[in-house]
Amino acid sequence: MRRASLTQFLIERQRAGRINADLRLLIETIARACKAISTRVNKGSLGGGHGSAGSENVQGEIQKNLDVMSNEILLEANEWGGNLAALVSEEMEDVKPTPTHYPRGEYLLLFDPLDGSSNIDVNISVGTIFSVLRCPKGVEPDEKVFLQPGRNQVAAGFAVYGPTTQLVITVGDGAYGFTLDRETFTFVLTQERIKIPEDTAEFAINTSNMRRWEPPVKRYIDECLAGKDGPRGKDFNMRWVASMVADVYRVLSRGGIFMYPRDSKNKDGRLRLMYEANPMAFIVEQAGGAATDGRNRILDIQPHKLHQRIAVVLGSKNEVDRVTSYHANS
Ligand code: AHG
Ligand code: MN
Ligand code: MN
Repeated sequence: MRRASLTQFLIERQRAGRINADLRLLIETIARACKAISTRVNKGSLGGGHGSAGSENVQGEIQKNLDVMSNEILLEANEWGGNLAALVSEEMEDVKPTPTHYPRGEYLLLFDPLDGSSNIDVNISVGTIFSVLRCPKGVEPDEKVFLQPGRNQVAAGFAVYGPTTQLVITVGDGAYGFTLDRETFTFVLTQERIKIPEDTAEFAINTSNMRRWEPPVKRYIDECLAGKDGPRGKDFNMRWVASMVADVYRVLSRGGIFMYPRDSKNKDGRLRLMYEANPMAFIVEQAGGAATDGRNRILDIQPHKLHQRIAVVLGSKNEVDRVTSYHANS
């Protein structure tokens, strides 16, 4: 059987009335930008992507060349298409409304252009994460219109630039995975209706922060580490890529729990609600998993600022529920 391309997949969604032509074109545009970023990532130092850009982003983080390049590729691809009212990125201080000489569309785009920047120079998978919201009609797209809870997302997705380039997207009817065919340079549907197993014996957390964790997280990991001899009665395995895209892709592929909790140093957590936690939570829930900040469902959190950070616990439902219950009882 011939596999569907991303274009065919999206046209089917449009015919079924799930998305309109504008949203279809927007997702196609983002996918095209991801292909361009994938090419830059592949070139490595030959394409000038390695090394520091010598600048800081709004959050005081040192930008890598590839952070800046990826941001520009996404900006350039999206400003003239006519489907966006405004966009904003982890690497930009302010919201960027669509220039007035282009038509303004009904959507708002948020993205983390290059996730896993610390891995660029060491040849480990990185990626791009995006989230799409609706701009209320007749409203000037300023920061406030972006501050919608994640459950309002109409689409979300992420690309992983690894041994293969993968794209995972949802428009609210399941999570689907596509593989970039390097011969035809098209995304081809390879994972239909992704389903995260409810149970797992694999956890992902940066254990170098252990001394700073809150008691419920410490308890959960201690119990995993105790393995067969502990209260869980089974051995656990650990993975930590330090690129959320790669860690979440693994969770979608074979189950697992991924955590970046708040701790005494990162008091609000480390990951960004709007560019990382919300889109990933939407995808994970669409794949039958769960996503909380330890206490609350991520998709129900009302954001109060664009670059807000948040604790993240996501993946196999029964494990996420367990961590969340440890917080509730603490
Ligand atoms: P970014 O490169 O967009 O700043 O995001 C990196 C994030 C995320 O991808 C990853 O899970 C986490 O930072 C890794 O943090 P540590 O280096 O603290 O492990
Ligand atoms: Mn990131
Ligand atoms: Mn980033």
